[in-house]
Amino acid sequence: MDKIVSLAKRRGFIFQSSEIYGGFAATWDYGPLGVELKNNVKKLWWNRIVRSRLDVVGMDSAILMHPDVWEASGHVEGFTDPMIDCLTCKSRFREDMMEKPGQCPNCGGKDLTEARMFNLMFKTEAGSVEGSTQDVYLRPETAQGIFVQFKNVMTASRLKLPFGIAQMGKAFRNEITTKSFIFRSREFEQMELEYFVKPGEDEEWFDYWVSERDKWYKQYGIKSEHLHLREHDKDELSHYSKRTIDIEYDFPFGQKELEGIANRTDFDLKAHIEKSGKDLVYFDEQTRDKFVPYCIESSAGVDRTVLTFLCDAYEEDVIDNEERVVLRFHPAVSPVKVAIFPLMRKEPQINMAKDIFDSLKGCFNCMYDQTGSIGKRYRRQDEIGTPYCVTVDFDSIEDKAVTIRNRDKTDQVRIKAAELKSWFDGKFE
Ligand code: GAP
Repeated sequence: MDKIVSLAKRRGFIFQSSEIYGGFAATWDYGPLGVELKNNVKKLWWNRIVRSRLDVVGMDSAILMHPDVWEASGHVEGFTDPMIDCLTCKSRFREDMMEKPGQCPNCGGKDLTEARMFNLMFKTEAGSVEGSTQDVYLRPETAQGIFVQFKNVMTASRLKLPFGIAQMGKAFRNEITTKSFIFRSREFEQMELEYFVKPGEDEEWFDYWVSERDKWYKQYGIKSEHLHLREHDKDELSHYSKRTIDIEYDFPFGQKELEGIANRTDFDLKAHIEKSGKDLVYFDEQTRDKFVPYCIESSAGVDRTVLTFLCDAYEEDVIDNEERVVLRFHPAVSPVKVAIFPLMRKEPQINMAKDIFDSLKGCFNCMYDQTGSIGKRYRRQDEIGTPYCVTVDFDSIEDKAVTIRNRDKTDQVRIKAAELKSWFDGKFE
């Protein structure tokens, strides 16, 4: 894990937030490569869940919502963790994360408070005139934005069951345990699908979505032996769930949740019907029945997915008797798809390499690099997971051909520069 955190900082994937002020606990900033990686994760999810399907539409709701939303959803009452304070070292931790009962995980002290319930929602105030402000919450999940717009989206898009509404966006939780890099942060992003079905068809759809989501990670290169499906015990289920299966990943710090698939039944829509007094029922035109649909939720963390891709791609190997670090990302995930180098810092080579950069930059993310030996430049790209490097050399000026070097096998092919675009076509999907 230390190697990944250090690589992430050194190469501009992820930085500690507010680092120059000593950092701000459990918040992280994505640098130039990190934002590309994160955008790829979100794009691949969106394309699969929304764009490639006839039965799912997308939306983007506000982070701040009416406070009643969180009353109705049960978050004000029940979105809590049991928290214990150590009176010796003053650290605070979750009771369920104690390694040894009755002992502080930080200093080993035994002078501890009783467990107290601590609500994870961040509270703030809306309004500016003193006395007329209103307590509001930063959303702790994106899902509620979907539930409260269920009727509008369904009507506007003329949707018939089964159908899904998806969104991705920021969520906030005042986490107590904050030590595992971007795995658990206070501000993070979720990719959530709420898939509405007829009651009675929910169990079948639940199995379908567990399998779909599991396949998605594997398709983008996560090794199947590192992924596990873990069913929640009855006493572990969230207040809204009839059944939950987590997709867990073998992170360097243990097997942990990457995504949860839950059968939320009609809990949320019914809760909002009751609280708002609005009619969120579904009318089945064929059977003339009116009912509240059940909902199967797939809820993945963008940041945890980024971390999973980083951990799974990280390898150290030896090439030409030289050790290298390589991120073996699936090409669709790699933040940079192609790096372009002039072999020598000579004008005709530089010009040709820059022309190639210009001709490819509109198709996918490219990088141009002219500094250091060619070996060093390859290593720099291997370390950030760039699948291909294109080199312009002496002969290129005459024969208009370039060398393409592959990150994984490190073999090379030579093709005409004019054919590069078609050669790369389809390689980053
Ligand atoms: N809408 C359901 C829901 O929010 P959750 O299991 O609490 O369920 C879903 O969260 C996913 O969001 C998790 O599987 C994880 O990937 C991500 N997530 C939750 N809390 C997180 C945190 N503090 N930091 C980073 N990701 C988090």
